[in-house]
Amino acid sequence: MYGGPRVRDIPYPTHDTMIGREEEEAVIATLRRKELSGFSGRPGDRFLGGPNVRRLEDGFRTYFGTTHAVSFNSATSALHSAVAAVGVGPGDEVIVPPTSMSASATCVVMANAVPVFADIEDETFCLDPNEVEKKITPRTKAIIVVNLFGHPARLEALKEISSEHELALIEDNAQSPGAAINGKFAGTIGDIGVLSLNYHKAIQTGEGGVAVTNNDKYAQRMQLIRNHGEVVLAKWTDDDLPDLENIVGWNYRMTEIEAAIGMSQIEKLDKLLEVRRDLANSLTAALQPYKFLIPPFVRQNCSHSYYFFTMRFLPEEAGYHRDVFVRAMQAEGVAISPGYEIPIYRYPMYQNQIAYGDTGCPFRCPHYTGEPDYAAGLCPTAERLYDLELVTTDICKFPNGAREVKEFVEAVHKVADNQERLSKEA
Ligand SMILES: Cc1ncc(COP(=O)(O)O)c(C=O)c1O
Repeated sequence: MYGGPRVRDIPYPTHDTMIGREEEEAVIATLRRKELSGFSGRPGDRFLGGPNVRRLEDGFRTYFGTTHAVSFNSATSALHSAVAAVGVGPGDEVIVPPTSMSASATCVVMANAVPVFADIEDETFCLDPNEVEKKITPRTKAIIVVNLFGHPARLEALKEISSEHELALIEDNAQSPGAAINGKFAGTIGDIGVLSLNYHKAIQTGEGGVAVTNNDKYAQRMQLIRNHGEVVLAKWTDDDLPDLENIVGWNYRMTEIEAAIGMSQIEKLDKLLEVRRDLANSLTAALQPYKFLIPPFVRQNCSHSYYFFTMRFLPEEAGYHRDVFVRAMQAEGVAISPGYEIPIYRYPMYQNQIAYGDTGCPFRCPHYTGEPDYAAGLCPTAERLYDLELVTTDICKFPNGAREVKEFVEAVHKVADNQERLSKEA
């Protein structure tokens, strides 16, 4: 920042999820087969997709130990389908966290319902069960919990709350495949768990998503929502599932090429997570001397999958603002960002309470009897972390290695050594 050599002078390698020979061969075989999608939006064999889609779903079902895995063309469409599958609709509220990617809350608006934001915990940045309880009303239909940055939320406490109040619990596990709590995978404790396979996740298909569940009815509803369900239901004759007619279908189908990549990628998840964990453990150990920087918290009985390596910056300890620290680190050439996404309720859609046309729906829909609250100060912990404390880096992943960790620590050391000068920065 004040001149002189940077710690790192070269760009980071492109994000790589060990895409290699296995993916190449599967894609080429699919191209040679010339059937790039196996779906048909009509009743029959092709309603559930082609051979690659089915293999990918088998792979996820086996990995997560669930009875069903339903693939989608994104986690956003999987989340929308999950919300619709559990029966959320106009007039309903769904409790969500403010700190996440926007789709974690917007999927509720997609179902014409109202997201209600509950605050997060300091330690894991995930939903705080005590705050969730305070937000339950007679209109609450479901809770969407996000296992953020690779760490499971307090899923068991949230499961108890959702059972007690007869609410559905949906886990947005887009960032945390392979994370676990008491030996159970995050994503498998709620009624439905959603994974993302977009290109910056732990494993990828370019774009894609998967929902895992042990609930037959939800799985079937998600399959229908994924693939023009209203068409199929016109010919459906299953008397055991009387509420199945309440389905609006979309086209959320995964292609055979994407599935070819995904069925190879799931085999590599454990290897990729091992790299993330090794790098994160060595970075955590190396940051111990720096009291102004708290490395990621890992709760007892939990395992972290380190989508991001998240730190809490303590301005009082450092003597300057978090953003000065980030500027100084970035000047050293290392990858670091302040704050993650803004609290979701600060987005204009929530501030203006206009989503569809100019009717004010779903926030001021005639079916909705509540008062949406998206005012500043709504979730003080999320706001403080975003504005002042949260710092993330994504260096702890393949193909990065010990060099990237060493450089990061060297940059922290240099910045710490310049405390007096930095404390005069605005
Ligand atoms: C927590 C979370 N939820 C949902 C999504 C949406 O995923 P996709 O891009 O696959 O729709 C993301 C993507 O970044 C995410 O991080």
